[in-house]
Amino acid sequence: MAIAVRFPRSSLYLHHFRRGFTFNFTSVNNSQKQFIVTTPRRNIMTNSAAWLTAAKARPFEVKPADTYTPAEHEILVENRAIGINPSDGSLQAFAWLPLKYPTILGQDISGNVVAVGSGVTRFKKGDRIVAHAVGMGSQRIQDNAFQAYTIINEHMASPIPDNLPYENAAVLPLGISTAACALFQEAPFLQLHYPTEPAQKPTGKVVLIWGGSSTVGSNAIQLARAAGYTAVTTASTKNHDYVKNLGASEVFDYNSSTISEDLTKALQGKEIVGVVDCIGGNALKVCVEVLHKVQGKGAIATAKGGVDDPPEGITIKRIFGTTLKDNAVGKAIYVDFLPKALAAGTYIPSPGPRVEGKGLEHLQAAVDRVVKGVSATKVVVTL
Ligand SMILES: NC(=O)c1ccc[n+]([C@@H]2O[C@H](COP(=O)([O-])OP(=O)(O)OC[C@H]3O[C@@H](n4cnc5c(N)ncnc54)[C@H](OP(=O)(O)O)[C@@H]3O)[C@@H](O)[C@H]2O)c1
Repeated sequence: MAIAVRFPRSSLYLHHFRRGFTFNFTSVNNSQKQFIVTTPRRNIMTNSAAWLTAAKARPFEVKPADTYTPAEHEILVENRAIGINPSDGSLQAFAWLPLKYPTILGQDISGNVVAVGSGVTRFKKGDRIVAHAVGMGSQRIQDNAFQAYTIINEHMASPIPDNLPYENAAVLPLGISTAACALFQEAPFLQLHYPTEPAQKPTGKVVLIWGGSSTVGSNAIQLARAAGYTAVTTASTKNHDYVKNLGASEVFDYNSSTISEDLTKALQGKEIVGVVDCIGGNALKVCVEVLHKVQGKGAIATAKGGVDDPPEGITIKRIFGTTLKDNAVGKAIYVDFLPKALAAGTYIPSPGPRVEGKGLEHLQAAVDRVVKGVSATKVVVTL
């Protein structure tokens, strides 16, 4: 039975929306409004989002969002944890990508499948998954992470083991995608052999990964190792054990005044199949210098850029971490590699999560936390 309730729209509407009530909104007269509470029960498909209402607006506003229906090769996911990336804060602050507002940010989710498209064979309702929400690439509102439900391309999701908590899984997506774009996409990226589980036999060939304790670097080290390459990396001394545990063979302190010489000496005589620069700016300059001195040629994939005119023989290619969704690398990672490696426990979602809070309303603080800077840590919000 419908119950008529009169109250100011602003406060109680939101309160009841959050509690899962459904409202019909009807005009009573010109000055007053009436809400009819028609469904006093939890509607599990009710969506809400942390909206970025305009360019450079803050804080995010938690408000209703559409509920989506997955197309043929898509799944609808009830998000249980959302990972935060540096781009979330920089996009909010600087609006460096042209976006249509209001919009929703975010790329990293883990959660439960609640609906599947007609062509989906890998997933069913109830499956626990981790996935890369590719809204930055697709520019569709339903493909973004900062909401209760997100549409995911089937081939950009992996099932997760029962013993992997959602918050640990949510650290993965943009980090592993960006590292995979750098390492495995066709030239001018590094175009290396794909990773496998069990790992490929070591080739002895070296990848230099600058910034091994970053999220992108932590994934680049593990992917390189699984693909049979030797990962040489840089990190603060406090994170040397951390990157070695992920599989780095050697690690150097990037704060050292002799970092360029140290790397040059360590890499001399080795075959360098490429460089992944996870930091950019001066870090990229040193990467160019080292590669030029040691080998005179080679490919550098950079997450950030900062050098426009490398010496002849050195190529620099900027990564855009969602491009793998449109080439063979997306499937190679999320379909063929990650599910097996997570199940075997040989791929450790890294860096470990720091949970900032539970609920979409904690996303602003979580984004602000990442903007302040983190060390070998991934900030996550649970839902
Ligand atoms: N192009 C793309 O598609 C794409 C995708 C993802 C990320 N990114 C960009 O890539 C960068 C890394 O992202 P993320 O999520 O991996 O960052 P993150 O995890 O937040 O990075 C934090 C880490 O960076 C390390 N670091 C800081 N300055 C460094 C330096 N000069 N040399 C070596 N390591 C340094 C710190 O190491 P210590 O604590 O050991 O000092 C820290 O552990 C960001 O600028 C991000 O915007 C780009």
